[in-house]
Amino acid sequence: MKIIVVEDYEQLSAKAAQFVAAQVILKSHAVLGLATGSTPEGMYRRLAQLNREGTVDFSGVITFNLDEYCGLPPSHPQSYHYYMNHHLFNHVNVRPENIHIPAGDAADIAAFCREYDQAIAAAGGIDLQILGIGVNGHIGFNEPGNCLHAGTHVVDLAAETIEANSRFFASPDEVPRQAVTMGMGSIMRAKRILLLASGKSKAEAIKETVSGKVTTAVPASFLQLHRKATLILDKEAASLL
Ligand code: GLP
Repeated sequence: MKIIVVEDYEQLSAKAAQFVAAQVILKSHAVLGLATGSTPEGMYRRLAQLNREGTVDFSGVITFNLDEYCGLPPSHPQSYHYYMNHHLFNHVNVRPENIHIPAGDAADIAAFCREYDQAIAAAGGIDLQILGIGVNGHIGFNEPGNCLHAGTHVVDLAAETIEANSRFFASPDEVPRQAVTMGMGSIMRAKRILLLASGKSKAEAIKETVSGKVTTAVPASFLQLHRKATLILDKEAASLL
């Protein structure tokens, strides 16, 4: 694991944007695995700027998002479809047909999950997977538990996740109880992984990720086994290392 510690969220966002930009400059048809949550917002803002300035061209890029809530239509302001349009896709020249986001409202969700994994494989696999991290060490929506799943699947969200994400909803009752997420296998097969973490609330999860046991109780700890995983952390997230 390569660990880069920066001063604050602004520096984290700038470094992360450079990392993604470098990937797209190196390979104009790069396959990017994308994450949501508050952490990558600053990175997306900078990528949009780099695209506007002509430094990074997204016209050949293919994207696969990590996850989506079940039961929220794409037009719902808290859906990850809405998030991605709002923070990135509306601002860069990515082709709509190259964008893939799990359909949390698919009629046949099992078939959808299979097709999502096939689409990732057909695109040649993910070149660079961006990750945030949950306070409980989840990545995507792969929650801590006795077992982890390899492929895209439906999950029951952990109580800590519902609580953490309730800040985006009017009340905790409105947070969906289930989500569709890429599995650990899809994440671990990415050629490179970039995990971002900011703030004190992530410090414990980052400590477990970097120096704890590799365990299904902390899904992010599996990144210790990946050959090209980089963590960009601000000082607070790195404070227990
Ligand atoms: C959600 C997402 C994760 C994200 C996590 C952390 O649960 N499914 O992909 O990493 O939240 O979010 P934040 O960056 O807002 O702390």
